[in-house]
Amino acid sequence: MPDLLAQLESLAEGARRAVEAARDERALEDLRVRTLGKKGELSAVLRGMGQLPPEERPKVGEVANRVRDEVETLLARGQERIARERLEADLQGPPIDVTLPGRRLLPRGHRHPVSRAMEDITSIFVRLGYEVAAGPEIEHDWFNFEALNIPPDHPARDMQDTFYVDDAGLRGGGKGGVLLRTHTSPIQIRAMKRAGRPPVRVVAPGRVYRSDYDQTHSPMFHQVEGFAVDQGITFADLRGTLAAFARAFFGPETRTRFRPSYFPFVEPGAEVDVSCSICGGTGQKEGRRCGACKGTGWLEVLGAGMVHPKVLENVGFEPGKVTGFAFGMGVERMAMLRHGIDDLRLFFDNDLRFLEQF
Ligand code: PHE
Repeated sequence: MPDLLAQLESLAEGARRAVEAARDERALEDLRVRTLGKKGELSAVLRGMGQLPPEERPKVGEVANRVRDEVETLLARGQERIARERLEADLQGPPIDVTLPGRRLLPRGHRHPVSRAMEDITSIFVRLGYEVAAGPEIEHDWFNFEALNIPPDHPARDMQDTFYVDDAGLRGGGKGGVLLRTHTSPIQIRAMKRAGRPPVRVVAPGRVYRSDYDQTHSPMFHQVEGFAVDQGITFADLRGTLAAFARAFFGPETRTRFRPSYFPFVEPGAEVDVSCSICGGTGQKEGRRCGACKGTGWLEVLGAGMVHPKVLENVGFEPGKVTGFAFGMGVERMAMLRHGIDDLRLFFDNDLRFLEQF
């Protein structure tokens, strides 16, 4: 028996020294296999126990268990020490240059030109102090039409070919219709109701839906709505704001003009043109008629106007006391003008040959 106990003691002593000497995990793992493994030194001792008289076995077993526990603890501590030493060595060593560009294994891709236009438009208004708001794409008839001064039988509904989920709002002027919103203007109503009182200054990007499909229309497209309601807001504020926006988006030379137009939720209403970004407003490009503006030098980019008193009334604002302006623009159209693209449907075909150009 002293023989086996001595073997165990020397096993433990060897393990202590080996752990101390170990410089990496590899060395520890070798030690573990050599001492605790199935064909290791400890197993050999335990096998030897069979030769012992029965009364000596418990003692040897006890020491063997203790040695196993000790070696396991030594290994765990050794592992911790090695990890700590490695970390310290890393920290002492030359710093990693995190600004070094990575190796490009996959092409990175980029944002879609429509997303980019929408984010750029939105951030111009954020810089002007507007808050960003969103609303549901499946909308109540009331928010999309009625609250915006478009009653069920109003011919202005024909301006927007609507996808109805439930056309109760149409039938006999019944309430409760549900539809895919045809514009972002319902966010005017939602934001004003949420605010409860002026001032409200909101920019609202989002998807809208109309039953339309041709070179310049898609059944789903994007709009950005903007509006400001407060005491003393005038048409001059609207003009100044949109002129500043047009310069920020299309470039500092851009001019703006307003033409009278009709939207039921504004009065007066206007369509806003910017000087053509393709021909610089001359109507001529390389000695020929500019295709983008059809030679007029102007591009129609948005609808706008002073918020109609009825709309203010519908959200519980006092029309005599507060005024405001609102505008809405199509994002695809803005992206088309920016990049000189002539078919809106290209944005949604997901053809990489098209998208990779931007
Ligand atoms: N909602 C209108 C449209 O989609 C645009 C608009 C917004 C016009 C705000 C005036 C004021 O055509």
